Parts: sequence; C-alpha cells; structure tokens
Amino acid sequence: MKHTTLYRKWRPRRFGGIVGQEPVVRTLRRAIETDRVSHAYLFSGPRGTGKTSTAKVLAMGLNCEKGPTPEPDGTCESCRAIMNNSSMDVLEMDAASNRGIDEIRDLRDRVNLAPVSGRMKVYIIDEVHMLTAEAFNALLKMLEEPPEHVVFVLATTEKHKVLPTIISRCQSFDFRRPSIETLVEKLKEISEAEGIEVEPEALTVIAREGRGSFRDAEGLLDQLSSFAEGGITASMVRELLGGVGPEALTETTYALYERRTADALRILDRLSGGGSTSRPSRAA
Ligand SMILES: Nc1ncnc2c1ncn2[C@@H]1O[C@H](COP(=O)(O)OP(=O)(O)OP(=O)(O)O)[C@@H](O)[C@H]1O
Ligand SMILES: [Mg+2]
Ligand SMILES: [Zn+2]
Repeated sequence: MKHTTLYRKWRPRRFGGIVGQEPVVRTLRRAIETDRVSHAYLFSGPRGTGKTSTAKVLAMGLNCEKGPTPEPDGTCESCRAIMNNSSMDVLEMDAASNRGIDEIRDLRDRVNLAPVSGRMKVYIIDEVHMLTAEAFNALLKMLEEPPEHVVFVLATTEKHKVLPTIISRCQSFDFRRPSIETLVEKLKEISEAEGIEVEPEALTVIAREGRGSFRDAEGLLDQLSSFAEGGITASMVRELLGGVGPEALTETTYALYERRTADALRILDRLSGGGSTSRPSRAA
C-alpha cells in the first residue's frame, strides 16, 4: 500500500499556497522579480508553519527552467527534483542531527562549486540554533563572503538561540502561528479534496490540537482518516486524544449544581479511569 503522508502531499508548491505568511511571501516574490534575492535568510517561527516549504518554493522559483520567476511551474525537471528532494543544487541539512564542524566544513568545501544544473545553489539549514559554537563560526565565515551562486536559508524554531552575529548577516523573517480558523479552513480544503468525511466540529477539535502547526493538524487528520470507517466525528477525535469532551463537563457541573455529589464523584472516577468520557466507546 502506498500512502504519502498528507502533510507531505499538501506541501505548498507555489508562493500562493503558503497560508498566513503574507509579508514573507510578498517580500520573497518581489526579490525574485527584481533580481534582489539575498544570499542569506533566516526563517524563524513555530514548527509546522511553512519555513521549509517556503525555502523550497524560493529554490524552485530561482531554478525553474522558466525562471527565475515568482511563479515556478512545478512541472519542469528542476521543480520536480526540488519537490522530491533529489535536486543536486538544493540541499537540506538538519543541524539538530549534524551539529558539528565537520558537516559545516564539508558544506564549505562544496559551497564554492558551481550549481550542477540550476542557476543557484540553495542550502537549507534546519534548526540552525543547534550548531556548536565552532560550527556557527564556520557558518559565519561563509555568510561573510557568500559565493554569487549561493543562497542560504537558515531555519529555526528558536531564534533567541541564534548568535546575533549570524542574525545580522541575514534577512530575517518571522513566521506566524496560524489561527484556529485558518487551520480549520486548510483542513477543510484538504479533507474535501481527499474525500475524507469529517464533521465541522471535529475539524475545530483537530485544529485546536494542532496547536498552531499545520503539520501537526494535518498529521492528526491523516491518522484519524486511516482508522475511521465512516466519517470522523468530534467525539472520535476526543476519544483518540483521550481528552474530556464538553458533555462530561456539563454533566459534572449539573451534578454539582444539583448537589448530586455521588453522581459527580462517579463521573470523576470514570474520567480518571481511562482519560475517556462517559460516552460509549466506539466499537473497535
Ligand atoms: N504556511 C503554510 N501554508 C500551508 N501549508 C503549510 C504551511 N506551513 C506548513 N504547512 C503544512 O505543513 C507541512 C510542514 O511544513 P514545513 O515543513 O514547511 O514547516 P516548518 O515551519 O519547516 O516546520 P519545522 O520547524 O518543524 O521544520 C507542509 O508540508 C504543509 O503541508
Ligand atoms: Mg522545517
Ligand atoms: Zn519549474
């Protein structure tokens, strides 16, 4: 069975598909149009808000066969290679797992080589704040004199841990956390396109659980859709999350209000029993 994770399948492939980050998108589009793309960007913001996706669209725009263009076609060889991570010119490095000087040195050795097939080389360094001090310094050297054909995109969820000397070399963008409404809208679009049946209230619960991350919200929708035979209901989502639904809360409140202490305690007992509510559990 071939199953591409929903959030991967739904990674934006155009600037227009990047939701809720208008200032970033506007500036980058303009930079490509006017041929003023910077050699170093710092993308900071919460997880799952579009940092890597935006870096990839930027790379596509720069290297598209029809480009440089703010509207990469997404279909040429270069665009496709970037989308499936096989481009020789667009390299992603995770600083969380390659924290050391060796990786950065390696990068420095390769950085001066001309692009293989595109116009530009784009180095995406994720979680850049994780680099060791030594590696940071080596990176700083590269940022001081970046080769003409190179664009660095440094991404981080913890900007305050990035050295000021690095930040000052970059054009910096803060990615915003999407609102519940924005997440619901995205989830709705995806579920409709994928033929996933889900009640509106369930979408809100999923969006809330995503805690401001498109990836987490989409991942949860994915999980739910794979085990829900019928449609996804709000109570099903809560059950999966082990959360307490509003019904249980109402029930308890009434019991307390009407001084039915025994009932209130019984509900409490049930809730603490399995993290599940009083609703009958779904047949497996
Ligand atoms: N702004 C956005 N608009 C539309 N979809 C988004 C957006 N941000 C994230 N997504 C969805 O979430 C997935 C992951 O996003 P991405 O990898 O760009 O996040 P990130 O900010 O780099 O997260 P991390 O900090 O964890 O690396 C994408 O494939 C896409 O499905
Ligand atoms: Mg990322
Ligand atoms: Zn293209």
